Amino acid sequence: MPKRGIELYSFKEIEKIRKACQVVAEVLQVVAENIKPGISTWDIEMIAREETKKRGAKPAFLNYRPPFSNVRYPAALCVSINDEVVHGLPKKSKIIKEGDLVSIDFGAIIDGYAGDSAITVAVGEVSEEKKRLMEATKKALDRAVEKAVAGGWLSDIVEAIHSTAEEYGVYPVLKYGGHGIGRRVHEEPFVPNNRKDLSKKDLKLRQGMVLAIEPMFSLGTEETYCDGDGWTVRTKDGSPSAHFEHTVAVTKEGPIVLTEI
Ligand code: MF3
Ligand code: CO
Repeated sequence: MPKRGIELYSFKEIEKIRKACQVVAEVLQVVAENIKPGISTWDIEMIAREETKKRGAKPAFLNYRPPFSNVRYPAALCVSINDEVVHGLPKKSKIIKEGDLVSIDFGAIIDGYAGDSAITVAVGEVSEEKKRLMEATKKALDRAVEKAVAGGWLSDIVEAIHSTAEEYGVYPVLKYGGHGIGRRVHEEPFVPNNRKDLSKKDLKLRQGMVLAIEPMFSLGTEETYCDGDGWTVRTKDGSPSAHFEHTVAVTKEGPIVLTEI
């Protein structure tokens, strides 16, 4: 595949990306409201599809082949529970229960532009350490967003994420992270969550860049493995993980979070 480099988007295009992002935020909200003990991850997949259709958009992940895979992703939603970090494949047999940490990750396309966002929901009462893990991951995203400014560096974003994990005594997972987004779901650059994944050459952030920033933290390890289904990424030690993601535009006025309602 030819390398297309980093896309820069005009104000008008960012407005179109925002439209996709608004659908993403709304669908995630409806999905989150339906997460209750006893519901299967396939049931919430169906809700996501319906809510997307209602809004005249298309799910961005359904039948999409991401650059990091040889096969197409067969669902609209990624639902990752507890030790599942990202790309959890919805299944009829997977039932959500009290005490779970559930990451829901969703993308939509409208008018040829994409948006991508994820939130982690606590189901009923969860343990104190799970609460702190969620808090750390959300805090990391908020701090990373503040670094998405023209003239800043990609490494500033990575540093904000990694140092927040350290502050909370949790682990930023290796290999998985954020990405440029706009006309396609995954564009350059890769936005690591862990310092070890930073390439030697840093990247200056410029006005018009649109980034999906997505910290993924675990309670016990940086390391992951892929489940037998070929998609679901899990922590190597089985410890729980959390994941939050926003699509953010780098503008003259500073960072604009496009996936906020
Ligand atoms: N936000 C996730 C990511 O960028 C969503 C991936 S969906 C998949 O990795 F279809 F690519 F799996
Ligand atoms: Co993403």
